[in-house]
Amino acid sequence: MSSYKHLYQIILGFAITAIAYSIFKNFIYDPEASAFLIHKTNIKRPIDFPIWLNVMYVHVVFACIATITGALNFSQNMLQNKPTLHRWMGYIYFASVFLVCLTSGYMAPHTTGGKITSIPFNVLNVVWPAWIVIAIVKVKKKQIKQHLHWMVRSYFFCFSNAFIHMITFVGFHIIKVDFEIAYMFGVYGAILLCVILAECMIRYVEGNKKEKLSMES
Ligand code: HEM
Repeated sequence: MSSYKHLYQIILGFAITAIAYSIFKNFIYDPEASAFLIHKTNIKRPIDFPIWLNVMYVHVVFACIATITGALNFSQNMLQNKPTLHRWMGYIYFASVFLVCLTSGYMAPHTTGGKITSIPFNVLNVVWPAWIVIAIVKVKKKQIKQHLHWMVRSYFFCFSNAFIHMITFVGFHIIKVDFEIAYMFGVYGAILLCVILAECMIRYVEGNKKEKLSMES
């Protein structure tokens, strides 16, 4: 099995797990987000909780759509045999990311942990769609390899919420720091992890391609 195919299967596995976790946690296990909202004791701006909750639902639904359409678009079969479907899924991915960032724009001023935690969210609101725009520009210029690299970079942000929860869990339940501190480290750590993992994946795939070429020549 090629390294690319193997990585695609791993990404698809992570995507399905992240989506299942998000749907279960936010729509079945804790639809009122009470386990999260209980820690919002120190926020500067007042929150309208029913509106916040509905915005959060929209945020999660489009995050799940971005996660699945993004993952499926890395399939080699899709890339080689179904270019029209690939293009449409790409646009659905872009629109979903845009809506995740739009809803994030509403929630960011009320972020748990205050301004220091809202800054990285606001940076992501600009960077995430911008990287997809770069990826689209690259494919329009027929720079396919660069298109793939920028899509990988943008796609890893789909796992940001899962990483935030993992790091916050370790900080709050295992290291036992305040929830706000654990969450702040969660947000910064998750973004860093997304960027590093994307670069590792790009290098791994490119490294394997070079190795294969040198073995064939
Ligand atoms: C793509 C996967 C994502 C999913 C599944 C997701 C899901 C969620 C959920 C369930 C919440 C409620 C709090 C919690 O339980 O964590 C939330 C909050 C939030 N998300 Fe996302 N999110 C994702 C990505 C992002 C990204 C990339 C951004 C920034 C562009 C973002 C910005 C925010 C903000 C600002 C909040 C409010 C945090 C707070 O109130 O403290 N999310 N997200």
